[in-house]
Amino acid sequence: MIRIEVPATTANIGPCFDTCGIALNIYNSFSFEYADTLLIEGCDEAYANENNLVFTSYKHVFDYLKLPLRNVHIIIQANVPVSRGLGSSSTCIIGGVLGANALLDYPLSKDEIFMLCTEIEGHPDNIAPALFGGLTASLMTDGKPYNVNYDINKDFKFCACIPNFELKTSLARSVLPKEVTYHDAIYNVSRAAVSLKCWETKDYELLSIALDDTLHQPYRSKLIDEYDEIMELSKKAGAIASFISGAGPTIMTIYDNDDYVDTLKSFVKDLHNTWTIMPLKVELNGALERNGVRYNGR
Ligand code: HSE
Repeated sequence: MIRIEVPATTANIGPCFDTCGIALNIYNSFSFEYADTLLIEGCDEAYANENNLVFTSYKHVFDYLKLPLRNVHIIIQANVPVSRGLGSSSTCIIGGVLGANALLDYPLSKDEIFMLCTEIEGHPDNIAPALFGGLTASLMTDGKPYNVNYDINKDFKFCACIPNFELKTSLARSVLPKEVTYHDAIYNVSRAAVSLKCWETKDYELLSIALDDTLHQPYRSKLIDEYDEIMELSKKAGAIASFISGAGPTIMTIYDNDDYVDTLKSFVKDLHNTWTIMPLKVELNGALERNGVRYNGR
């Protein structure tokens, strides 16, 4: 079987709303082989059908190449929490597209893979880091995505605070304003530009200032029960900075002290939601096919 591993991602990273993301070292894996009928294993019965996002993404490649669809056996091994702002849908899309590409003997270029995955997802800010690894910044113009990778110090320590409730991206987008002020735009553009250098230099002091945001967090934080408590407790445990991961509800924290994770775990026990505290590192290489083919375009 062809096996594809795709990392989780944290998008937005403070001020870089809808633009930047970082790949993280938890992975969903997707195995593919041609079969007589469609068979999907490793997910709830309700999703084991032709509407499955891995399968629809696989099918998208056949449609794009105008090839007759072939039935497939897909095995999913999922480790990335679903609907938590950690890019799980991007992993499914990339898994499906790369699986089809591998079974078809690699007809797609890296640009086409990025374009097809972005087309399915609707925006590139989780797709790019999951595909290319590390810290990415992307833009769309005339429906085409462009991506650059920034250097990120591999020693950054992340800790995801993942609640036991979901937040749909559609709901998280519906609360955003239609327009923003010049003040807020400049606030974010300046912090986005400065923070991107700080990820390279590991300047914690400046990063803690530069990761602030006015474009999405003030609106979305109201949808995340115990947001204020997690922000306060992570700070008390010694976090350098904390921000909403993607559209939420996970809150991503950055830390550097040895007892941070245990301290935060002990703090969140008193909250009324269950918060999973998950230490993570940067994944520098992005999606990987198990025979060694990588998709990072650098
Ligand atoms: N940039 C997107 C958002 C990521 O924040 O809505 C969600 O997939």
